[in-house]
Amino acid sequence: MKKIELYHGDITRLEVDAVVNAANTTLLGGGGVDGAIHRAAGPQLLAECRTLNGCATGSAKITKGYNLPARFVIHTVGPVWKGGNHGEAEKLASCYRWSLQLAVGNGLKTIAFPNISTGVYHFPKEQAARIALDEVTRFVEQHPEIEKVIFCVFDEENYQIYHHLMS
Ligand code: APR
Repeated sequence: MKKIELYHGDITRLEVDAVVNAANTTLLGGGGVDGAIHRAAGPQLLAECRTLNGCATGSAKITKGYNLPARFVIHTVGPVWKGGNHGEAEKLASCYRWSLQLAVGNGLKTIAFPNISTGVYHFPKEQAARIALDEVTRFVEQHPEIEKVIFCVFDEENYQIYHHLMS
């Protein structure tokens, strides 16, 4: 059974155990997918985020999903692209690993990722996609309890990249 799927659209519509949010270190919301998830989840999400005391780049924290169809939100903080010699690739890989480890640790089976760091944080999209696919593929091979990982692509460029890499 194919465990890794591609969905072209808005992550706030996905009915999965957890959607991953591309947050910032404050966890207090922002634009892009962060803004969309907070708008759809409602103000209780921010209220819970306020209790988490932020999140370091490359790690992740979990909250409830509130008004989202998803049960939980896993907030992860991707690296800002600074040219590629500041550990950006490893930090991005860590976002995927941490998020999946949190999902497994909470008994979750289905998870959807946005294209972390490829918007405001300017991580090159092709390189980010390769990192994401490598990390997720390796993790699901080692963790059969994860039943489905959805790569949720929103912009056309990411869709073309993931479609090509996954076909
Ligand atoms: N559903 C799925 N993906 C989305 C959505 C959505 N509703 N809205 C935007 N995206 C996509 C963008 O097209 C991009 O491919 O999410 C990807 C990540 O882009 P950003 O949201 O800009 O996230 P990132 O690059 O990680 O920057 C994070 O932006 O919003 C702030 O608070 C956030 O400071 C943090 C920074």
